[in-house]
Amino acid sequence: MKIAILRERKEGELRVAATPDTVKKYISLGAKVCVESGAGLGSSISDEDYKSAGATIASELGKCAEGADIVLKVRPPESDEMAAIPEGSMLLGMLEPYTSQSYFNVYSLKKLSTIALELLPRISRAQSMDVLSSQSNLAGYRAVIDAVATFGKAVPMMMTAAGTVAPAKVLVLGAGVAGLQAIATAKRLGAVVSAFDVRPAVKEQVESLGAKFIEVPAAESGETSGGYAKEMSEEYKQKQSQLIHEALKKQDVVIATALIPGRPAPVLITEAMVKDMKAGSVIVDLAVASGGNCPLSELDKVVDKHGVVLVGYSNMPARVAVDASQLYARNLYNFISTLVIGKEGKLDIKWDDELVTGTLLTRDGSIVHKQFQVK
Ligand code: NAI
Repeated sequence: MKIAILRERKEGELRVAATPDTVKKYISLGAKVCVESGAGLGSSISDEDYKSAGATIASELGKCAEGADIVLKVRPPESDEMAAIPEGSMLLGMLEPYTSQSYFNVYSLKKLSTIALELLPRISRAQSMDVLSSQSNLAGYRAVIDAVATFGKAVPMMMTAAGTVAPAKVLVLGAGVAGLQAIATAKRLGAVVSAFDVRPAVKEQVESLGAKFIEVPAAESGETSGGYAKEMSEEYKQKQSQLIHEALKKQDVVIATALIPGRPAPVLITEAMVKDMKAGSVIVDLAVASGGNCPLSELDKVVDKHGVVLVGYSNMPARVAVDASQLYARNLYNFISTLVIGKEGKLDIKWDDELVTGTLLTRDGSIVHKQFQVK
């Protein structure tokens, strides 16, 4: 069995799908691993490091992918990668199925079995494989670091002989994985933090991190039975909007992370609200790739609007690539060693396991995922 690790080609993508640590683990399962030269450089891993772990290094994409049974990626394959991936093989990565549906035709033509890891059901057994959590956690951390680096004010309270510096006020919108890590990071830096989410269940988690939970007085819960956020009523949205507007006027930093899976991000910060914010304050809009929690934020740009700086990096985890690759590679290994590779390093895909049915887009080229089947 051959596993191929391809070099990511998308601009700004510094992560890699395997590390020397996971290469060793695949080899101990009985697999052969080939890494495309330079694949780890963005994450400070050299070809030599992979070689020492037991991988072979291929200087060309075609040679790396040739004869592979399993191909590991971070992002969906670009056209040259698609051409090189062997017919009938299995491709695993964050394949962005909601936005990259044009890829399905090629998956079909090449009879690929494709696993989109971001669709993994969020159940306890899957925690060690959960790429959204591992990457969002780092994104939440980095969002605060980027905000603080952009901001012309210190975060902690400082009492000096020359006077007292007031602590920065940070508001986190959406207290999922990214939001909770943003709260924890801002608290560690000494900020006064408040947070808002439509799911009342997160109030306790927010408070346990030492932040204030902003609550919309309403009977309605924003949570589905599956634990995810749902679209709220107009009445709720109006009350929420007023509360956020008032809170925004006092903030120095806002980290926006609100999302409903598979839908455009809710607009929580309007242009009128931005106009009312303090000059020099910063909004980091993590939801920018799904349309943004603020319509003024721009994809992969840092812009100044009405005196407020909006940070719109769509790939925060790549800004912490060393750790993001370590965690992503571990997630992939945990998935593959449990569900894809069996005894003596042979392919033994557990097709009926809910973690496979939940993530499998195509099987031997046929679209099998219910959400993406053409009706
Ligand atoms: P998550 O699903 O764990 O959290 C999203 C949270 O937003 C949930 O707690 C949900 O209840 C809340 N929410 C939904 N609608 C809301 C509303 N109207 N008002 C307030 N809260 C609302 O997602 P996760 O993993 O924490 O990611 C958060 C966002 O960050 C997503 O948009 C994700 O795509 C994005 N993200 C962006 C990255 C980047 O590099 N820019 C990297 C990682 C995540």
